[in-house]
Amino acid sequence: MKIQKFLLVFLIILTTFQTKADEGMWIPMLLEKYNIADMQEKGFKLTAEDIYSVNQASMKDAVMIFGRGCTGELISNQGLLITNHHCGYGQIQAHSSVEHDYLTNGYWAMSKEQELACPGLNVTFLIRMEDVSTQVLNGVTSEMSEEERQKTIKKNSVEIAKTATAETHYEASIKPFYYGNEYYLFVYEVFNDVRYVGSPPSAIGKFGGDTDNWMWPRHTGDFSLFRIYANQDNQPAEYAADNVPYQPKKYFAIAMDGVKKDDFTMVFGYPYKTEEYLTSYAIQQKLEIDNPHRIKARQKKIDILTLAMNADAKVRIQYAAKHAGISNAWKKWIGESKGLTRMHAVEKKEVLEKRFQEWANSTPENKKKYGSLLPQLKTIYTKLTPYRLAYAYYYEAGVSLDIVSYAGYWEKLITEKKIDTNTVENLKKATTGFYKNYNATTDKKLVTSLLQLYYDNVDANYQPTILLTIKNKYKGHVKAYTDQLYLKSKLVSEEKAMNLLNNFNGSTLKKLEKDPLYLLRQSIVALYDFKIKDSLLVLNNQIDLLQRTYMEGLLAMDKDKLFYPDANQTLRVAYGKVNGYEPIDGVSYKHYTTLEGIIEKDNPEIYDYDVPDQLKTLYNKKDYGQYAENGEVHVCFIASNHTTGGNSGSPVLNANGDLIGVNFDRCWEGTMSDIMYDKDQCRNIALDIRYALFIIDKFAGANHLIKEMSLVRKNPVEIKVE
Ligand code: ARG
Ligand code: GLU
Repeated sequence: MKIQKFLLVFLIILTTFQTKADEGMWIPMLLEKYNIADMQEKGFKLTAEDIYSVNQASMKDAVMIFGRGCTGELISNQGLLITNHHCGYGQIQAHSSVEHDYLTNGYWAMSKEQELACPGLNVTFLIRMEDVSTQVLNGVTSEMSEEERQKTIKKNSVEIAKTATAETHYEASIKPFYYGNEYYLFVYEVFNDVRYVGSPPSAIGKFGGDTDNWMWPRHTGDFSLFRIYANQDNQPAEYAADNVPYQPKKYFAIAMDGVKKDDFTMVFGYPYKTEEYLTSYAIQQKLEIDNPHRIKARQKKIDILTLAMNADAKVRIQYAAKHAGISNAWKKWIGESKGLTRMHAVEKKEVLEKRFQEWANSTPENKKKYGSLLPQLKTIYTKLTPYRLAYAYYYEAGVSLDIVSYAGYWEKLITEKKIDTNTVENLKKATTGFYKNYNATTDKKLVTSLLQLYYDNVDANYQPTILLTIKNKYKGHVKAYTDQLYLKSKLVSEEKAMNLLNNFNGSTLKKLEKDPLYLLRQSIVALYDFKIKDSLLVLNNQIDLLQRTYMEGLLAMDKDKLFYPDANQTLRVAYGKVNGYEPIDGVSYKHYTTLEGIIEKDNPEIYDYDVPDQLKTLYNKKDYGQYAENGEVHVCFIASNHTTGGNSGSPVLNANGDLIGVNFDRCWEGTMSDIMYDKDQCRNIALDIRYALFIIDKFAGANHLIKEMSLVRKNPVEIKVE
């Protein structure tokens, strides 16, 4: 036993010092300085300037934030863009009804006139970035309180952003890097007229559904197409029928050769959040509190939704996006916890922390700055634990419940007691929108089950008062309470809510104050406001401050090591190579999948694996056109690029900077890479771009879209489709 433990520590020390091949999400502007030599050594044939440049068109001009959270990239000189099916999902759903079910059947605009406007959707391009640390930190001193510091930073940032965008239509944002040790300015251009061009049926675009989500081997055709429109001067504009397709500075050519094992690949996109520099205490908290409780709550939701969706086609459409969202994080957390445990993440951090402490104690100067950091962090995390638990339930079993968040729309009206037509009209809109995707029976089951979980798992001190009412008045019978809630509330049916809004007057307000749904929401919000919010804020601020100093210390301790900043939804480059992996002893995964695998999974009885007949026909006829490789259609591939949420839809590029795939997921065994990367287990999953083209051309007959693109083969001969 002792020897085993010794070996483990030894192994951990070894891996801590190893160079971490393929790990990292790098800053485009700094590639020249830090990465390009390594990238070229690994096979990349272009320059840093080809990726990011402010002087000439570069790859960054073809990459965008799609909507709020995804990435997309341009693939034609007419503003055509590709992203994931799951990124376009909300839009596809918004255009769908039981009669025109684009989720189920797919949609393809056969001409530009058929491209559908998407109000509310926009795409964002990076114009330039700049290190503004000095300007942002101007006037900040070490004697300042954290509050003063933040105030100064904010004031400086507003100024910098204003100057950066003066006399332009650009937008600017300034983001902290390395926990606020550095700051960067980002200047963006936003396009608001983005139209839905096409997407395959869910049986292709979401093939494997939530069953295969986060898993390899994968066969999902996870893509959708949109087009950016601009005004006559090629400038961003609000939607107008006579807007024209945007002519970009740069778009990606499409590589028709596919990928081989060990090929260089890079992913260029907007990773949302990673936490690579957390302490052992934080990871332990994740493993013991956040993940298990949130997993448990979501398991309940998923069980209820799955039953309801299988039983009713309308419910399936209504809850499709909600279900996908709930189950996505649920499954990731399960994988993450397993991965962190398998990697001995806590022990690895402890080894690092021990070394840090020794280093901190090694000189009086270090000691003053860094000596008490870790013990302080440890204490704060201990204090944080009950609040993290309370917050998990407040969120998962409280505010995030559909009707509870809907009740939030009414809050302003009820608390401010001001009835103006604007508020009422907005509420009508919100009500129609909300009830479009609502099923009363399902909702009631969800609320009952989640409130029960809340009741059973959280200390009474951190429960909303309504649970106390349930205990006293309803003798702990949650169902008895929800029966009353759904019977009596005027807000839990569209008809009743609309009725209220159509005949609104002073006495309606009085009644609403006592509406059971409103009271439920109030009790949940009050719990957060009075018992959770302030403590969380104070403790999190303390952690931020200490993490900033810890980060500074880490950078100082390992001066020769190249650190990459955590993802923060700014443009990053990850690079690695195409490669399979060994998830468990005795199993070895190949780096790609093919149409054969789709046919193998085919099962009309199972919703997630019901292969469309037309795809089977193409398969039987081997009607693959130019999209096959040695007689097979490749569907997905994996590589060692370090990616995370937000990288969905990101271009996966080859050594020539041509598009080989569209990133859409990670392998389950590697989902802990947001916290700790393992080069043997972490793989990003990409759709092979040739599969998307095959579907567009052969399945959908939308050959006009292929003609817009530039398809290239190795020596690069341009192929134009007639
Ligand atoms: N896991 C991927 C991501 O994190 C895909 C999610 C959408 N797909 C799904 N089956 N829910 O976004
Ligand atoms: N599917 C994820 C997204 O929407 C990407 C997968 C990941 O987290 O790596 O961004």
